[in-house]
Amino acid sequence: MRILVTGGAGYIGSHTVVELLSVGHDVIVIDNFSNSKSSSFEAISKISGKDVIFYEGDVADISFLRNVFSKHSIDAVIHFAGYKAVGESVEKPLKYYDNNLISTIRLLEVMEEYQCYRLVFSSSATVYGSPKSLPILEDFSLSTTNPYGTTKLMIETILTDVSASNSKWSFAMLRYFNPIGAHESGMIGEDPNGIPNNLMPYIMKVSTGELPDLKIFGNDYDTPDGTGVRDYIHVVDLAKGHLKAIDYVMEHVGVEAFNLGTGHGVSVLDLVHTFERVNHISIPYTIVERRSGDIASCYADCTKAHEKLHWTSSKTLEEMCEDSYRYVINQKKK
Ligand code: NAD
Ligand code: UFG
Repeated sequence: MRILVTGGAGYIGSHTVVELLSVGHDVIVIDNFSNSKSSSFEAISKISGKDVIFYEGDVADISFLRNVFSKHSIDAVIHFAGYKAVGESVEKPLKYYDNNLISTIRLLEVMEEYQCYRLVFSSSATVYGSPKSLPILEDFSLSTTNPYGTTKLMIETILTDVSASNSKWSFAMLRYFNPIGAHESGMIGEDPNGIPNNLMPYIMKVSTGELPDLKIFGNDYDTPDGTGVRDYIHVVDLAKGHLKAIDYVMEHVGVEAFNLGTGHGVSVLDLVHTFERVNHISIPYTIVERRSGDIASCYADCTKAHEKLHWTSSKTLEEMCEDSYRYVINQKKK
């Protein structure tokens, strides 16, 4: 199949492109490199032994999109492109509503023009807000606590309305839990500029000495060791979930949401200690105040993805920590 991947130079997108190429799909990538570099494609080519067709441009640019669709007969789209920093979205909400919503609307318009009706969308566990119980099921009530999360929820609503308007559409909305890890080659991964907001990128910068110590946001939560519990999923497992979702949208119509996680809750201290153990390295930390907006625990029930997508995660927390460390060490050598 010929798959268009928006945001395919980014963290999850680049891993997904590798998996798509490995099973023989033709892949076309669009990215404006607002949060990535074109060097992703060199790494993808080295890993897969295949070249990626890519177009540098903005998904919100309708004439650019039409040009890409007119050149390639696209069977399905995976839509990763968007901004994702929660804190920045609170400071600059219009930037988030503009990029995330407009790019999605333009993409849907052009897909309809070219009669391409299959889309896999990057949603997030953030749409569950503060869940009433755990593990989280797809039919839990939805709410958000920041503009980034609201863009995800609004896009889910848009996809639901568009699906109701024309029965040709097929949408899989993948609600990711906490992706970490990197490709086992160490050639692609996540390496944000500046001070990271998320836990694993922060641990990675402490592991290389770029930052002196990890600040753990609270140890007085109602969790086994008092630190926040999340469902960390290896990015390669997540990438493979997209291949299953592509198969699903090719065979079904309508709109479905799927949780992609491991189903296991891991605390901040569990993650830190696992990282230290498998990589034989010390991660100094201090306990500081809770971060505003954080919830105590969040983990998925992934039964629906297992039953309908025939997908399940397979990589361990140890592998997530080893692969993250391998990637950051490789980056340092460059
Ligand atoms: P990322 O920032 O690494 O990748 C996104 C890519 O999209 C980047 O390469 C960026 O340059 C590109 N992009 C952004 N806006 C664009 C536009 N208008 N036109 C063209 N390209 C554009 O992020 P990621 O971690 O790979 O996340 C991918 C998707 O998954 C995002 O939609 C994100 O919101 C969602 N998601 C991520 C996480 C996470 O923790 N990483 C969790 C839940 C959901
Ligand atoms: N944490 C620290 N110190 C840090 C960073 C994080 O103690 O420096 C803690 C947090 O308090 C939380 C846990 O580590 O308990 C995980 O925090 P992250 O920031 O890595 O992840 P979140 O679960 O808060 O949020 C992330 C994304 C959201 C997304 C959500 C679910 O930032 O956009 O995962 O996918 F919605």
